[in-house]
Amino acid sequence: MSIGTISRSPTSLAVWPKLEAHFEQIRDAHMRRLFAEDHGRFERFSIRAEGLLLDYSKNRITAETMELLFALAREAEVEGWREAMLGGEPINRTEDRAVLHTALRNRSPEPVEVDGHNVMGDVYGQLAAMGTFAEKVRSGLWPGHTGKPITDVVNIGIGGSDLGPAMVTAALAPFGHERIACHFVSNVDGSHLGNTLKRLDPEATLFIIASKTFTTQETLTNAQSARAWFLASGAPEEAVAKHFAAVSTNAEAVTAFGIDPRNMFGFWDWVGGRYSVWSVIGLPVAIAIGKDRFEAFLAGAHAMDRHFRTAPLEDNLPVVLALLGIWYNNFFGAQAQGVLPYDQNLARLPAYLQQADMESNGKYVGRDGEPVRWQTGPIVFGEPGTNGQHAFYQLIHQGTKLIPCDFIAGARAQEERGDHQLILLSHFLAQTEALMRGKTPEEARAELEAGGLSGASLEALLPHKVFEGNRPTNTILYERLDPETLGKLIALYEHKIFVQGVIWNIFSFDQWGVELGKQLAKAILPELTGEPKPGAHDVSTTGLINHVRALRGMG
Ligand code: F6P
Repeated sequence: MSIGTISRSPTSLAVWPKLEAHFEQIRDAHMRRLFAEDHGRFERFSIRAEGLLLDYSKNRITAETMELLFALAREAEVEGWREAMLGGEPINRTEDRAVLHTALRNRSPEPVEVDGHNVMGDVYGQLAAMGTFAEKVRSGLWPGHTGKPITDVVNIGIGGSDLGPAMVTAALAPFGHERIACHFVSNVDGSHLGNTLKRLDPEATLFIIASKTFTTQETLTNAQSARAWFLASGAPEEAVAKHFAAVSTNAEAVTAFGIDPRNMFGFWDWVGGRYSVWSVIGLPVAIAIGKDRFEAFLAGAHAMDRHFRTAPLEDNLPVVLALLGIWYNNFFGAQAQGVLPYDQNLARLPAYLQQADMESNGKYVGRDGEPVRWQTGPIVFGEPGTNGQHAFYQLIHQGTKLIPCDFIAGARAQEERGDHQLILLSHFLAQTEALMRGKTPEEARAELEAGGLSGASLEALLPHKVFEGNRPTNTILYERLDPETLGKLIALYEHKIFVQGVIWNIFSFDQWGVELGKQLAKAILPELTGEPKPGAHDVSTTGLINHVRALRGMG
């Protein structure tokens, strides 16, 4: 398909004014009433696919809303863009690249071509090399330079070279290796590396320097300091080869850094950083859970890719999630999206999805180069339940903002412990019910009276005890979190983000917005370390630089 011809603003689509008119009709409809009027609502608005259940019945929608939203997806040519992405077209136009993280998990015999070259041979080659290396480390066949088996793996990377492997390793902790602990150092703040290395034995530590570009200042600074720490233990220079591996697309820079190219695992520019956990960036995951389970993780994602490609839009999990997000973002004016996993091991999922979503769809310029006149990506945030309930849920229940939330849980715990999982699930289910139903003044009054309150004290307290409800949620439920299920879950969100980007008419796979701060930091660094004196900044920045210099005794 010719991408240039389908670059259209969503508001110019024929269905957009119909959605606006429909929104005016149902904006005040309460979900309590919608549920009371339609006992088939759960069946109508839920999808079971690939071992996941998506219940989206607790949304401010009717059958007509969904019909219009599916029409929006069709008119925005989501299906065409999907084929363009999966077919290796350079849909990342501002970087002139294909977007093929799906090729990394392609388990089918079908070729995937970039510029006429089937990349599957390269993909399988790197996957095999990574798997072999991971198994050697796990079995002890790759010991440290003094013969000690590796007990600690330290991944040094940031953004997509950190969040993916860190999140997945934590999520699959019960499948981890008994002897090997994985650590993740991302922040250039020296305490991150310092705190991590404090209890580690250099003779039994393997560092993975993970950077797609191998130019990221934070990562290279941490990597240099890690090497200095390693050599300070008395290890000879040639021992570095036993203790440092790299994952990158930039072989030249890896070699220049001093890492043996035989310890380098490669990937390609058509893998976006925040979509790279499926590549050799997943090395710490493969070491933690083993090659076979890593492949199960890929297979899960591939199953979701197939579903995304083949399921009708009406039954398509990522498409439905994307359209609901657009309904709140562009019609109700919602600014945020909560991600609330009821699974402690998914604690890093919100942070991971923050990058996936906000770096992809945090754009105000459309594919035509013009500023958009509609809202794009939401603020993504979250914490595991039940912790969040005791922190920020108050605002979701009774605040002035509408915050649609995704609730995510497994029916079974990864490791059952007494009745913990059932207690957890009771909260998980109660929260979406509470957010939908709320509590009417009559219900609140009856409760207060039953508690013995009456008269002026009751009247004073009553308004605070009322919940208006009608707060939208999606529920994503699966049996148990294992590598395959996690692969499905992540791929579900990746495709959701893609669909939204297509409809918003933005380029989801670049991230130019992170560059300006990096450029300015480069100019400021020498000003902090001595000469030159602060250059041409605004008076606030100059004042702050001078104050830092003064606090550091530099005058
Ligand atoms: O600063 C943003 C970013 O470019 C992310 O997109 C990326 O995941 C991260 O930096 C790390 O980049 P690299 O893997 O090249 O070190």
